[in-house]
Amino acid sequence: MAYPAPSARCLADLAERLGPAGLTTDPADLAPWLTDWRRRLTGAAAALVSPATLEEAAFVVARAAADGIAIVPQGGNSSMVGGATPAGPAEGRALLVSMRRMRAIRSVSAGDNAVVAEAGVVLADLHAAVAGAGRRFPLSLAAKGNATVGGLISTNAGGTQVLRFGPMRSLVLGLEAVWPDGSVLHGLAPLRKDNRGYDLKQLLIGAEGTLGLVTAATLRLVPAIESRAVAWIGLRSAHDALTLLRGLEDRLGEAVESFELVPAEGLALVLRHIPDTRAPLGEAWPWNVLVEAVGDGAVADRLQVALIDAIARGTAGDAAFASSEAQADALWKLRESLSEAEARDGMAAKHDVAVPVAAMPDFMASASQAVVERFPGTRPIAFGHLGDGNVHFNVRAPAGSDDRAWFAAQASAVSSFVHGLATEAGGTMSAEHGIGRFKRGDFVALTDPARMRAMLAIKAALDPAGIMNPGALLPLAEKDEPQ
Ligand code: MLT
Ligand code: ZN
Repeated sequence: MAYPAPSARCLADLAERLGPAGLTTDPADLAPWLTDWRRRLTGAAAALVSPATLEEAAFVVARAAADGIAIVPQGGNSSMVGGATPAGPAEGRALLVSMRRMRAIRSVSAGDNAVVAEAGVVLADLHAAVAGAGRRFPLSLAAKGNATVGGLISTNAGGTQVLRFGPMRSLVLGLEAVWPDGSVLHGLAPLRKDNRGYDLKQLLIGAEGTLGLVTAATLRLVPAIESRAVAWIGLRSAHDALTLLRGLEDRLGEAVESFELVPAEGLALVLRHIPDTRAPLGEAWPWNVLVEAVGDGAVADRLQVALIDAIARGTAGDAAFASSEAQADALWKLRESLSEAEARDGMAAKHDVAVPVAAMPDFMASASQAVVERFPGTRPIAFGHLGDGNVHFNVRAPAGSDDRAWFAAQASAVSSFVHGLATEAGGTMSAEHGIGRFKRGDFVALTDPARMRAMLAIKAALDPAGIMNPGALLPLAEKDEPQ
């Protein structure tokens, strides 16, 4: 057996150090956390361990390391790729380490434009906490009510404001984490510059818990929004969407924070399945974008003038402007509930690909054609972060088919095909969701051997016993391959 189960002695040590709130082996306590967000994978763990402080977290890792016990870190359990589900090599024998009790905002500094938040802080709570200090944390995504700081860091999450502020990787100023041997990286100083060799925090960002346990982070803040302008725009083509984006940037510069693409069939799914939604435009356009621009009181006028001009030139077809915060939220709801609407409609093979931004309109067209030729009847649908060159190029089951049977038989082949197309186009099979357990096979198959060797060398150096999140991101060790 590659990974031992924790002994009674080990569990007793953990219980003694963490107290009753910090450790449970009761199946009823574990059950909600054993199935992934997309409800496609269920694992098993020996115990749910919930440290409340850095010291407790370090104790947990050190104690596990002493016996070679696997650790699966978990935040809000909202991974899109099964990254926090204790399935795979150490199934039933791992400690599922929940960071949800480490939920303090340790400090908010307007002077440093920085917040120090523990790993278990939920993104929506972080937004609220810094708003109280007149600041903004500029990363948002649909799962903000569940996703935690630690998970966002470990997946290098993106979302709907990457266009201006970048993904998590560009928002982390400092990190505190427990290395796989139980020692601690104390790196929370809010430094804008630090040239002491390797940037260890960047190594942990996007590592999916395979190199250490993130316990807290210092995150960059920006000024609170004075005014935002939100518009929904109907377009004839995805190429027009790209032309519109660059045109808006020419006129509004960095004020353009979000530029989200929604195809006609995506909007139709939302209107069909999500209550309290209505079409923003009188006509159904083949493509739509949701634009948010942020600035002073004049930003709405500037966006309006730019869009009227785009309509006059024929780049845009029509536009609806939000004239209140409620209307802005209603437009955002159309975009943010797309995934949910798609899920309610039936099973789809879901992807998160990126290619160079300028190549995305052609990629979406050629990849859709290639998928339909190879898998007749399937219905590709691409939506999302066009401004970042990242779309969720999902493939729905053929209309009228038994979608569960289709998914079981076809989804894996469809995904490998789509991941291959993105890679061939000079892009990536994972732009913002990570690799986790769902995409590990394709990642290993499609990754340049030299890149994979470097990753494995880093893993071997920092976690030689392989206790951190086995089965996620990296190829299985030989000892863990299914026999
Ligand atoms: C989104 O952009 O809506 C999210 O990444 C979720 C998803 O892909 O389903
Ligand atoms: Zn997304």
